Amino acid sequence: MNDQATQLRQIVKEKQPNINNNTPSAKIITVTSGKGGVGKSNTVVNLALSLKEKGKEVVILDADLGLANIEVLLGVIPRYNLSNVLTGNKTITEIIEENEDGIKFISGGSGINELMFLNKEQITKFANSVAELERIADYILIDTSAGITDAVLSFCRLAHEVIFITTPEPTSITDAYALIKTFQSDSDIDLPSIKIIVNKTESSKEAEEVYRKLANVCKHFLNMEIEYLGCVLFDYNVMKAAKIQEPICKSFPKSKASNDYRKIVNTLTDLKPKENTPAKGNLFKQVLKMFSKH
Ligand SMILES: Nc1ncnc2c1ncn2[C@@H]1O[C@H](COP(=O)(O)OP(=O)(O)OP(=O)(O)O)[C@@H](O)[C@H]1O
Ligand SMILES: [Mg+2]
Repeated sequence: MNDQATQLRQIVKEKQPNINNNTPSAKIITVTSGKGGVGKSNTVVNLALSLKEKGKEVVILDADLGLANIEVLLGVIPRYNLSNVLTGNKTITEIIEENEDGIKFISGGSGINELMFLNKEQITKFANSVAELERIADYILIDTSAGITDAVLSFCRLAHEVIFITTPEPTSITDAYALIKTFQSDSDIDLPSIKIIVNKTESSKEAEEVYRKLANVCKHFLNMEIEYLGCVLFDYNVMKAAKIQEPICKSFPKSKASNDYRKIVNTLTDLKPKENTPAKGNLFKQVLKMFSKH
């Protein structure tokens, strides 16, 4: 799609959503990482459950190409995926699956690849579909695959907020920096707010040091501010919960990691209102940002 920018400008001109600034919209949070296996999918399901426990409506989008981590962690085999919406035989609300705790998710499946090759009509259709989620969700949490790919960068552009997960391992920190740098240089739009979770850490002190190192290089070399969202201690119960296909916050609610996930959700929901609540009608335009490159 060579002239995508022109197409997008046309879409915005032709289809202005009804904007009612008084009603809050869903907030899109993309969870990503430079290195694989750092804990993105476990974070997404546990943040979803903890947000739900605080009375928030959440829909997860599993945007991991091929690996489909969310359905495995939640023990639900999805009947449909995003491809069914893109090809037109289902609406987005029809493909939402729910586990026994009421955690809702959409399987990206082969639809994630298809998203990279949509024409103008299909982009409008997809944007309208995502905008439908405004009616039912306070938060849309997107789980991505690791690394620098067009799909990951697109899901970062789609978000109001991007959470980068790193562990204290040096390779995880340098890979997180590489992804943040690519995202910044690739974006000709307002960057979403960038937040860091340090996972599998020995202590909160170690996590804060990791954040400081990463924040310093981002400030020095990219002139970019990144925020600290919190840490999750290394906890074997995360693996035990994954084995029985339940979020640790359900199986071991008093464990160290569950406590940390709840603290992160408190921080997320305590954000100042302006940052916390995008206005209604915002999701349609937000989706178009996703296609502003590639
Ligand atoms: N805080 C933690 N303490 C101990 N183990 C953890 C913690 N967080 C995640 N893990 C373990 O790390 C592994 C990877 O976790 P997860 O699948 O959530 O990572 P991911 O970033 O989604 O991986 P991928 O890049 O493959 O999608 C799993 O075995 C999980 O049980
Ligand atoms: Mg994963």
